[in-house]
Amino acid sequence: MSSIALAATHSPTPLPAPFTPPHIAPPARPLNRLAFIAKFVRNPLLVVPQAVYEQDVVRFPGRPVVWVTEPGLIKAVLLDQREQFRKLVQIRLLSPLLGKGILTSEGSEWKWQRQTSAPMFRHHELTTFVPTFVRATRDLLARWRQAPSGTTHDIEHDMTRVTFDVISATLLPSADATVGAAIERSARLFQKAGAWSQLYAVANAPPWLPQPGRRSQRQAVHMLRSSVAAMLHERRGAAHARDDLMHRLMQAHDPETGAPMTEEQLIDNLLTFYLAGHETTAKALTWTLYLLARSPAWAGVLKDEIARVTGGADVAAEHIDKLGLTQQVIKESMRIYPPVPMMSRQAVADTALGGHAITAGTSVVLPIYALHRHAARWPNPHLFDPERFAPEQEAKMSRYQYMPFGAGPRICIGMAFAMIEATAMLASMLQCARFATIAGHEPEPVARVTLAPRGGMPLRVWLE
Ligand code: HEM
Repeated sequence: MSSIALAATHSPTPLPAPFTPPHIAPPARPLNRLAFIAKFVRNPLLVVPQAVYEQDVVRFPGRPVVWVTEPGLIKAVLLDQREQFRKLVQIRLLSPLLGKGILTSEGSEWKWQRQTSAPMFRHHELTTFVPTFVRATRDLLARWRQAPSGTTHDIEHDMTRVTFDVISATLLPSADATVGAAIERSARLFQKAGAWSQLYAVANAPPWLPQPGRRSQRQAVHMLRSSVAAMLHERRGAAHARDDLMHRLMQAHDPETGAPMTEEQLIDNLLTFYLAGHETTAKALTWTLYLLARSPAWAGVLKDEIARVTGGADVAAEHIDKLGLTQQVIKESMRIYPPVPMMSRQAVADTALGGHAITAGTSVVLPIYALHRHAARWPNPHLFDPERFAPEQEAKMSRYQYMPFGAGPRICIGMAFAMIEATAMLASMLQCARFATIAGHEPEPVARVTLAPRGGMPLRVWLE
């Protein structure tokens, strides 16, 4: 696809040339067991064989895993045949922390939790959050301003903090600022042991098997859940109820039993929204800033668009839809570096998937990172080229070939929230900041629950 030729159809000046940011070199053949464990613990993306980037369905004899990247088959797993494919690996991995909340439950237990939360994510509600997104970004810019121009900042950390501030201020406000800090601290501790937990969840390891880091992980879980419980008690004691997500969850009743959520269920959901609601957007912004630091030309194009749309004023709700190129860049960034790099489901009975026999217990891996770079569906897949998401191009795309937010009934409930948030925050940052990479730092994308840059994301920042 030629970006220059396409650009001429809807932009007065040619758009910058595509370039190739760091990507994983996949193994040519499946790895033997020892190599698999070693690589998986280092970075699960390193075990995804080359064939997965080229073929529709990949499986190897004797392994209860099938990799699926064909859009029609992904649709079957997530929508048409969803009763046969369950979220068991994700539930094993995350339920020690998130219990049976909206992300980690299934069936009717999931459905009413989803219906209870959905009204908070209607478009109108979301646009009222834009001033909060802008205010949180302004606080971050003020912190950056305290350091000399050109200072190196840990962008991954800064994006995590700012998106955490946003989720606290919009969906789950608490009068007690120390609660937020405690949650942030223990979430970091929990993730430290993440690599082994991932391996154990994928391998369905028995709970008695010793696991490196399990003790500190348990402590982190305890701290996290106690912090959220404290927040809940504080709210129960508050004189005035406010209409936020916590209020809605506290008021909800199970339509089958009529019972309200138990204390445990409330904690499960509050924690789910805290964690699912900020880590992912933080990674999307981190990788987008990296890509823009790599491409001052694209950063310049966005700055021009933002200046034209906002006239130099604060980003407001009515600007979001007009920031088309800014959104194209965010979408292309989430193609190249999907914040959730892998999804999976597990077959609960013998079944067939597009003519392929699947036995009960088989893990069906939907490797989002590889799907977004599949040779059959993306020309020059490793190139960063936001013109792929020009409206006329995007209209031709299958919703199962590009799915940073998943798909089907379990699609991310925060999708629109995240897109508005990322657009407002990126635009607010680019209004007065410039970013540059550090010589010699090539970030490797590592698949934890979210896609993290190994060694963080140090970037130099100049404020204008
Ligand atoms: C760029 C940002 C985000 C990305 C890439 C992302 C990605 C995803 C994905 C891939 C899933 C589906 C997982 C599966 O089916 O296995 C998901 C589910 C979910 N996300 Fe997000 N997410 C983002 C932001 C958010 C935000 C801002 C919130 C809340 C404010 C949120 C809350 C949730 C919840 C609660 C679920 C579970 C939904 C259900 O099972 O019904 N996410 N997300």
